[in-house]
Amino acid sequence: MQGRAIRACFPAIAIMDSRANISACVARHGGDVTQLVQILRDVQGVFGYLGADAIDGVAKALGIPRVRVEATATFYHLLHTRSHGEYEILFSDNIIDRMAGKSELMTYLCERMWVEPGKLSEDGLVYVDSTSDIGLGDQGPAALVNGMPLTALDHTRLDLVAGLIRNRKPLRDWPPMLFEVAPNIRRGEALLADPFEAGSGVRRVLALGADGMLDELERAFPRGRGGAGFKTAVKWASCRRATGAAHVVVCNADEGEPGTFKDRVLLQQRADLVVDGMTIAARVVGATKGIIYLRGEYLFLVDSLEATLAHRRDDGLLGNAILGEPGFDFDIVVELGAGAYICGEESALIESAEGKAGRPRNRPPYPDTCGYLGLPTVVNNVETFACAAKVAVMGGAWFAAIGTPRSTGTKLLSVSGDCVRPGTYEYPFGVTIRKVLDDCGAPDARAVQVGGPSGTCVSWKEFGRRIAFEDIPTAGAFMVFGRQRDMFEVARNFTHFFAHESCGFCTPCRVGTALLRNHMDKLAAGKGSAYDLAQMQRLMHIMLTMSHCGLGHTAAKPVVETMEKFPEAYERRLQVLDYEPAFDLDDALATARSITGRDDAQAHLDEAAP
Ligand SMILES: Cc1cc2nc3c(=O)[nH]c(=O)nc-3n(C[C@H](O)[C@H](O)[C@H](O)COP(=O)(O)O)c2cc1C
Ligand code: SF4
Repeated sequence: MQGRAIRACFPAIAIMDSRANISACVARHGGDVTQLVQILRDVQGVFGYLGADAIDGVAKALGIPRVRVEATATFYHLLHTRSHGEYEILFSDNIIDRMAGKSELMTYLCERMWVEPGKLSEDGLVYVDSTSDIGLGDQGPAALVNGMPLTALDHTRLDLVAGLIRNRKPLRDWPPMLFEVAPNIRRGEALLADPFEAGSGVRRVLALGADGMLDELERAFPRGRGGAGFKTAVKWASCRRATGAAHVVVCNADEGEPGTFKDRVLLQQRADLVVDGMTIAARVVGATKGIIYLRGEYLFLVDSLEATLAHRRDDGLLGNAILGEPGFDFDIVVELGAGAYICGEESALIESAEGKAGRPRNRPPYPDTCGYLGLPTVVNNVETFACAAKVAVMGGAWFAAIGTPRSTGTKLLSVSGDCVRPGTYEYPFGVTIRKVLDDCGAPDARAVQVGGPSGTCVSWKEFGRRIAFEDIPTAGAFMVFGRQRDMFEVARNFTHFFAHESCGFCTPCRVGTALLRNHMDKLAAGKGSAYDLAQMQRLMHIMLTMSHCGLGHTAAKPVVETMEKFPEAYERRLQVLDYEPAFDLDDALATARSITGRDDAQAHLDEAAP
């Protein structure tokens, strides 16, 4: 667990100590500026936050402009430039956590700790706030305390947490059951049914050769599991052909789409399967360096992943001359994100892995020819690498026989929400929504959001539809909403998510997501009119057609789809026929009136009007 020492403020010795600590953090990462995100995470771990001195110190130690450090430090939600106290508690704000009582529980803890959400307690001890989904939708309401997960929260657990904080107990002395993350594997097929023998895929690729492996992948026809569904064999072949001083393999373990947690389960339960897949990719494209880019919220997985990598080095499955094969040199590092959904987009991920703010690049060029540090780079989802290892071991024909002709193999689904058995389910592609609902115990489902906020909203009339690239594609989220749920509120939660996560680079998305969120809030407050709906339609069209990346393209989807499938949820909020402004200017001037001590007629708008 990361220690979070609090900085002593005054004496010169403390200043020298802090300089030494910063130098140590920078040195631990080889003084390498591409490691800036990792360095800032470490520095924050030592000082509790990234104050002005810390930012100056890092800039000096790395020999780069201060503004460069600040731009990175202020981009990520899990990095902060003000103290969050000795204990920072961030409640996951996914709609599923909300349905399970997150808001009431957060208020309860705040009252117990005498703290307001988003503000440091007066004694500097504790900070409580919300954060985007933390990948524990099957065991929420959940939160992070100093980066570590707290699951299945209820009043009893929060009483315990409040007591531990009040007694200033270090996290290492907290009861382990508070941090338990259950795998909740409910159904397994190709990837999850059986244990995997570490190295069996790597041995097979040595026998097949790079071309033979590409042939097996072609035969298997697996498409990427990260959302876009790009053909894996095509990506790997293109990277293999590309020239560069070196080639790189990146495992996209950012998993930030609300409601998705299947990559967490694979990394927890089948890490060797995933790393075998990365090593196979390295053999095919000729890569020497591998990166597992792990979302910051999965800090708790780092130790077990490092242990997997270490035992593989011992067994000759990573390092130089893998399995005794001269020239087969490949090793992997784990790099942590710092809280930014956009870093799941592959070019933003690469920017982040290079130590910068994670803003999507202009494409082309695509990473397979010009990726990490300008080198040819394969970026694949965690599950895609797991599939590749299985294809190596079992053969392309075996894999292609599972699923449908256009969607071969299996799909992992992260099932959460109004069902009896939330967890991870693996099905052959082509499974119907109804079958998944039967298996997870959701007889009263009204809708399912497949693929998270950027995915597809499926109403009860469509439960015969199938999970497949040719029908409903998905990266994995399967959020169930029962009859009692208000689909307008679901869409509203998603608009807040996108407005929060827009990276701000392009205007249609930066402004569009904020305006859309405001319109939804206005409708929720009963002030919406047909005019607002028309404005929303215009906005959504602009975002879809003019945004720079996939976030902006899909940010309006939840509103578009719930409007179409659940129009009554919007209609009952349109009580106002004429346009009504959401903003009451006279109300907003109340603070000015109280500061100036005025409350006469001239100090009010209506009365002051000529
Ligand atoms: C906003 C946004 C977020 C994304 N998040 C993820 C993610 O968390 N994990 C992931 O594998 N792919 C994510 N992607 C897709 C990646 O850009 C990329 O297509 C994927 O990692 C490629 O892997 P695959 O070919 O194995 O699917 C995201 C894309 C966008 C536009
Ligand atoms: S669409 Fe949104 S997330 Fe993507 S680059 Fe533009 S502002 Fe950033």
